Amino acid sequence: IGQRINIDKNAPPEVPYWIPYLGSAIAFSVNPLKFYDDNRKKYGDVFTYTMVGRKFTVCLGIEGNNFVFNAKLADVSAEESYKPLTTPVFGKGVVYDCPNHMLMEQKKFVKWGMSNDAFRAYVPEMEEETRQYFQRWNNKTGGRGDLFKAMGELIINTASRTLMGPEIRALMDESVAQLYHDLDDGFQPINMFFEWLPLPSYFRRDNAHVQMRNIFKQVIDERRANNVTDKTDMLQSLLNQTYKDGTPFTDVDACHLMIALLMAGQHTSSTTATWALLHLAQNPHLIKELLDEQKDVLGSLDAPLTFDAMKNMTLLDNVIRETLRLCPPIIMILRKVIRPIAYPGTDYIIPKGNYIAASPIATQVDEQFYKNAKAFDPHRWSAIVEEETGETVDYGFGKIAGGGARNPSLPFGAGRHRCIGESFAYVQLKTVISTFLRMYDLSLTEKGMPGPDFTKMFVQPVLPVEVNYAPRK
Ligand code: HEM
Repeated sequence: IGQRINIDKNAPPEVPYWIPYLGSAIAFSVNPLKFYDDNRKKYGDVFTYTMVGRKFTVCLGIEGNNFVFNAKLADVSAEESYKPLTTPVFGKGVVYDCPNHMLMEQKKFVKWGMSNDAFRAYVPEMEEETRQYFQRWNNKTGGRGDLFKAMGELIINTASRTLMGPEIRALMDESVAQLYHDLDDGFQPINMFFEWLPLPSYFRRDNAHVQMRNIFKQVIDERRANNVTDKTDMLQSLLNQTYKDGTPFTDVDACHLMIALLMAGQHTSSTTATWALLHLAQNPHLIKELLDEQKDVLGSLDAPLTFDAMKNMTLLDNVIRETLRLCPPIIMILRKVIRPIAYPGTDYIIPKGNYIAASPIATQVDEQFYKNAKAFDPHRWSAIVEEETGETVDYGFGKIAGGGARNPSLPFGAGRHRCIGESFAYVQLKTVISTFLRMYDLSLTEKGMPGPDFTKMFVQPVLPVEVNYAPRK
């Protein structure tokens, strides 16, 4: 018998389920978007489903996004939702293993390492990394390449060369890449639910965490011993920071925050790069337009890329914006309810202990906001004037445009937990994509466009992702 245990009459409607404890876990993990769509038709924008003994109240639509992203600190907690997953990987004292006001300050510390001056220095380094990487592909005759693998390796190489510091990049080919993989294996959806299981991957993860921290610590110690002060990378910006109340941000805190940033930027950017190139492979006219744009902006396809020139590559920007609209790597954002909370405009009271979930992809593919919403059309963005209220809100980590949480496209989230890596991600993606396109033409194989794999922490294309490539004359 399908269960519907709704003792509280003001609780939002619940999706019935057949298997106790597991609840809707299977239907949800096969295709969360279909699951949301089907149930939205029955219950409206706000409903609760059970998964592995926990209740999730999803809040769809513009108002749902706004409700979750701007929920009050006294009502909901991001730490309570993400901590079991993130603390063993990142380490203690940072991100979700500290009070929210400390996270807000950590986000401010990080902003120093993402200035325009830093980006000016990063772009030539990223271009060089990309060129060197793709020399490995067959640049005489072309062939078939594993795009997902390439983007994964390239994003970690470019991020470590720039944000993480050259010392980390130098270790990438030997120790860091393997440590990263071990950490990553311990950063899967299953870890949110079964943190107590004695899985071998947890031992590898814990071991990798300690080794990774030691590597960062050694780099910091060497920089201190040599009085290094001329570095523009993020690691340098995290040294000698102090919280407003005088508490020092220690070197170990800096190591943990560096690991967090490595993890936060890796899959998000590498899957976005992969999807973007797949969409381009499917739309050769866009590749031609992008190369024309590069010629227009730089004068020639041989001219080196610069951060300032890339600002004028509007179509390239829009390709990334459109990729993130259709294929955002994060499709569920969670907060745990710590005090019963009323959902505006309804009688619903969401009980303490539930998780509230936002899924901005729902509005991103909604015809109400985007005509022909399922089509990949970067040009649509030149006609969309993003709503500017003029008002700004300071959530504690710097001012951001007000009304942000009601924008139908929110791949970087909104509110106090909004992403701080957006501008870095754009610089990195634009450099990698434009450099790749100058070197190679690409097209889909006979397998066509891969579908999404929802079982991973960050939605990625179903593997393997191969493309045909041919050197550009
Ligand atoms: C937060 C997406 C790249 C660091 C977030 C959130 C989203 C997101 C949706 C909000 C999470 C929430 O509200 O629970 C993305 C996407 C990226 C990307 C789509 C690339 C295409 C990066 C990069 C970095 C980064 C490159 C760092 C180098 C962070 C941090 C937070 C965050 C520190 C804040 C977490 C918090 O305050 O709770 N990101 N991100 N992200 N992201 Fe990103």
